Amino acid sequence: MTLAEKLRQLIIEAQGRAADAASLEDVEALRVKYLGRKGALAELTGLLGQIDAAEKPEAGREANRAKNEITAALEARSVAVKASGGTVGSAAKEDLSLPGTAPLVGGLHPITQVIDEICDIFYRLGFQIASGPEMETDYYNFEALNIPADHSSRDDLATFYIENGKLLRSQTSTVQTRIMEKERPPVKVLAPGRVYRPDATDATHSFMFHQIEGLCVDERVTFADLKGVLLAFAKQFFGADVKMRFRPHFFPFTEPSAEVDISCGLCKGSGCRSCAQKGWLEILGAGMVHPNVLRACKVSPEKYSGFAFGFGVERIAMLKWGVNDIRLFYENDMRFLRQFSA
Ligand code: PHE
Repeated sequence: MTLAEKLRQLIIEAQGRAADAASLEDVEALRVKYLGRKGALAELTGLLGQIDAAEKPEAGREANRAKNEITAALEARSVAVKASGGTVGSAAKEDLSLPGTAPLVGGLHPITQVIDEICDIFYRLGFQIASGPEMETDYYNFEALNIPADHSSRDDLATFYIENGKLLRSQTSTVQTRIMEKERPPVKVLAPGRVYRPDATDATHSFMFHQIEGLCVDERVTFADLKGVLLAFAKQFFGADVKMRFRPHFFPFTEPSAEVDISCGLCKGSGCRSCAQKGWLEILGAGMVHPNVLRACKVSPEKYSGFAFGFGVERIAMLKWGVNDIRLFYENDMRFLRQFSA
């Protein structure tokens, strides 16, 4: 091996060692080893006088280059070591006492959590969990539910229509008919799912949201059963001291119908900003299944009666956690979602 070749090898070796140096002390030790008065470079340069004249120019150039390159490599490494607080690289990795990097653990979306919690409560009250398609026909979304042809909810400003005569369901009440066509009473089901409405998006509206439909049909089911079931639910979900009230309302598929409010959890009914000074918060629509709906499913209204109710899941999630903008649920912003991971 010529002296020039030895010098080139020295450069490569020194660069490799410099890149591995984990502390300023290591860098200094390498400087002494390679560039010191008795170091490896000095040793090789000392041989310059002994080689053939023809080899000297190249070896001389490599000796200069070795000094510059090794100096630069050590300099760069000491800058990196200082920037990282004194130690980097392999020595730092070997500190087994440092805690590991925790992997990101996923969690259930807050809307899924609320659906699960509500389903759990009704499951314990004897309800089975069901589901239905999001793409529906006019029949299940309107006709079977006793909604007249000229009802405003059939307007294409209120429902998303798809080309083939189908539509995106605007309510989970569609499941009522689908269940009763398949299962004879007694029927007790809860059906969570997505619904779609062409509403302009704002803090309380979204073109897609979630509802949970409840349906109970049997002999001698009364409005008192509806009240009992909903109150049992509300006490478990919102707390034992919650109060509930039924306001008369109209739905084509229930008669009589009601909108149901719970007492505001923040002010306990005395009125505050969160309940618009009313003391009450609306959480669902409900009523006794209309005889026409039973008839459409070939269930005799003379023999059977039933109740149905429908929640908006986002609304309940917003009440539960004090979330003031529905859009937060859909933005997939981890800073928001992580607050709900159990
Ligand atoms: N489907 C109704 C709505 O979307 C809610 C409801 C369900 C009302 C069942 C009565 C019975 O507003």
